[in-house]
Amino acid sequence: MEKIAIAIDGPASSGKSTVAKLLAKDFHFIYVDTGAMYRAVTYLAIQHNVPFDRETALVQLIKKYPISFEQTANGQLVFVNNQNVTEEIRQSDVTSAVSEVSAHGKVREQLVHIQQELGSAGGVVMDGRDIGTTVLPNAEVKIFLVASVEERAQRRYKENLSKGMTTDFDSLKEAIAHRDYLDSHRTVSPLVQAEDAVKIDTTGMSIDQVVAKIQEVILEKGFEIT
Ligand code: DC
Repeated sequence: MEKIAIAIDGPASSGKSTVAKLLAKDFHFIYVDTGAMYRAVTYLAIQHNVPFDRETALVQLIKKYPISFEQTANGQLVFVNNQNVTEEIRQSDVTSAVSEVSAHGKVREQLVHIQQELGSAGGVVMDGRDIGTTVLPNAEVKIFLVASVEERAQRRYKENLSKGMTTDFDSLKEAIAHRDYLDSHRTVSPLVQAEDAVKIDTTGMSIDQVVAKIQEVILEKGFEIT
């Protein structure tokens, strides 16, 4: 498989990371979860009592505590300063603050730079909100995944249940809609479909169907899947 870059963007819980991981595994590409990086900064801010509106102090945290990934048989692990924070960054205190932290231009500048370095050699599947528009504007394949709020909340509800967490469905739905709003209305690199991205509405589709659809797009663009 040619070492292309595949950008997958879309709103919260649209299935981006699940399909991105599967594609990366199939193609032996690296997978970069950019949302995890914004979550890691938010986690650091909470740990170090840095208010979410202090842009310069947030940037200092990124410089002081490097964010890294490790691929393992059980999935991707996320580290800050060599501390494994894979589970901590998915907790609700991080989730509810991450849109505010990720709205800062200078925070984005730092993380976009790291993401571009990770993607520079190609052979990468990267997911987030601004990959096709800002991080990898020359990505060979750009996908924009969407799904109804109802379905996304259901997916998150089941995911939480499988981890032994019971959550209130309506609150989940509200939180997802709120995060969509914040991510789409911020000034710097808002969530928006790149002009040359292919939009896939995954409502009612299985993960395998979404992966197959993306493979179809890759083939249509003239890349061979081996
Ligand atoms: O994909 P996720 O839900 O883990 O992302 C967490 C938050 O990070 C999301 O609400 C917005 C932000 N984010 C971003 O602004 N840009 C990205 N490329 C990825 C995520």
